[in-house]
Amino acid sequence: MQKKDINWGELGFGYQVTDKRFVSNYKNGAWDEGCLTEDANIVLNECAGVFQYAQTCFEGLKAYTTEDGRIVCFRPDLNAARMADSARRLEMPVYPEDRFVENVVETVRANAAWVPPFGSGATLYIRPYMFGSNPVIGVAPADEYQFRIFVTPVGPYFKGGVKPITIRVSDFDRAAPHGTGHIKAGLNYAMSLHAIVDAHKKGFDENMYLDPGTRTKVEETGGANFIFITRDGKLVTPKSDSILPSITRRSIMYVAEHYLDMEVEHREVYFDEVKDFAECGLCGTAAVISPVGKIVDHGKEILFPSGMEDMGPVTRKLYETLTGIQMGHLEAPEGWIKEIC
Ligand code: PLP
Ligand code: COI
Repeated sequence: MQKKDINWGELGFGYQVTDKRFVSNYKNGAWDEGCLTEDANIVLNECAGVFQYAQTCFEGLKAYTTEDGRIVCFRPDLNAARMADSARRLEMPVYPEDRFVENVVETVRANAAWVPPFGSGATLYIRPYMFGSNPVIGVAPADEYQFRIFVTPVGPYFKGGVKPITIRVSDFDRAAPHGTGHIKAGLNYAMSLHAIVDAHKKGFDENMYLDPGTRTKVEETGGANFIFITRDGKLVTPKSDSILPSITRRSIMYVAEHYLDMEVEHREVYFDEVKDFAECGLCGTAAVISPVGKIVDHGKEILFPSGMEDMGPVTRKLYETLTGIQMGHLEAPEGWIKEIC
């Protein structure tokens, strides 16, 4: 198979149209079989539920080329399960989890020429999503839905790649107590757009959101969970009901404990403790593990000892182990790697 003629190393985190995408429709209480299509456009009624009341949720995962030339993806069953949780919370029909995984495989296979080669620094981002598609004018769930998966090759989420970033403590919240912060609803991201535009205008790469109830505890950023390393080498990750349960974060916790023999704490993290950590990073499918060098809280700076030049040493070990598993040169725990072709 001939790969596309792309300068893989230059890719940022952007969309480009690829050959095929998967579509399935839900009508009269059932999902149809679905199929791949070349049509990247969607035509919907002006009153579709997604346009009026934002009834939409999505997922994000990646496919990788391994050193020996296989194409694999990472823990798609967990994306399927999380999308089912999102759908239930948004009163949408659940897309069957086994079919989600099969359709991811089918979509990646149909776009194999777009999967970046091993060692290029790029990967194939996979975006499953669903939305209410029939007209809804009284506030109510739609009756009809569409589930789709498209793929697009991507480079690093943050411009500098693995250079440490600077984030600020946000005055805006992305989630409400007892709200939808724990699911991947489009509305959470709409909520965060003003905060991210404002952060960028002021020279910051991202926002650190605090817990919306007390504003004393660390939650997450707009698109990634936090990891912290203590001065004695423990991994600490924030726990809260309004944080998205990151698959990358759950995998890092496992890797830290079982591959690197580290102590792991998943617990509430008070913002007051942050100044005492040795290293900080963001983790997610798009972010992978992106080191944070500095956090600014209304003019007060926390500069981590790992500095602004390099990833901290423990963060680097976690990064190398996680990406080693994803790219197939370290043995993965049972069930983590799904072979595509
Ligand atoms: N938190 C938010 C708000 C996200 O959008 C994402 C991205 O999916 C994550 C965390 C990281 O989750 P995952 O590791 O499953 O990609
Ligand atoms: C992902 O990491 O898959 C996400 O959905 C985050 C998004 C901000 C790109």
